Amino acid sequence: MSSDRVTRFNAAERIVHWVVALAFVYVALTGLAIWSPRLFWLAAVFGGGTTARAWHPWGGVVFTVFLGAMFLKWMRPMRLDADDRTWLARAHRYAVHDHAGLPEAGRFNAGQKALFWLQSAAAVLLLASGVVLWLPEAASRPLREAAILIHPLAAVASIGGIILHVYMGTAAVPKALRGMIQGWVTPRWAALHHPKWYREIRK
Ligand code: HEM
Repeated sequence: MSSDRVTRFNAAERIVHWVVALAFVYVALTGLAIWSPRLFWLAAVFGGGTTARAWHPWGGVVFTVFLGAMFLKWMRPMRLDADDRTWLARAHRYAVHDHAGLPEAGRFNAGQKALFWLQSAAAVLLLASGVVLWLPEAASRPLREAAILIHPLAAVASIGGIILHVYMGTAAVPKALRGMIQGWVTPRWAALHHPKWYREIRK
């Protein structure tokens, strides 16, 4: 930390985050192409239907491995405390920029934490059902039927969460992206968006 820069994410965190993000976009788009005939045109961008189908599970492997690394790195700071529960109960105020009565955020606010746990749970479901769909002959019929249902449901929840995440990380919170690209934010940004965290690191 210097007088005009506060380290937000170190290099390892940023590399892991961007590999997860790239893998996510790849599996989401190839997955949508395989899933719906209406979206099959997306496959053209990824080398055609056969190629998209063949590489989609491998993209899933990359996504899972790096998401696992992200999970291990952040599971502790992502634990929800009493302040976070109050924050979530009043999240509608955050949405309309009425921050009065909202507990101060630490390194991650309660919305970010909730999304982290949603993504982690969705990833477990995607992995388990994805393996069954990848190796169908190794699974029983009920398991295959469950996987056919669970895989797209978990994918839709995950894609919805990430659309919100990308909006928050780009348009809704200006300069947040710099923290994830260059690794630093200004003291002013830190004090405004994550005051509890800023006070802790200033000690
Ligand atoms: C695809 C485009 C993406 C963009 C533009 C993006 C952007 C960002 C930004 C700017 C931050 C820093 C927020 C802060 O400093 O408070 C961040 C953090 C984070 N990102 Fe992403 N991200 C993307 C994809 C993903 C994906 C696919 C995942 C996981 C499946 C993910 C998981 C996270 C997590 C867990 C954090 C920390 C907590 C949070 O800010 O929500 N990101 N991202």
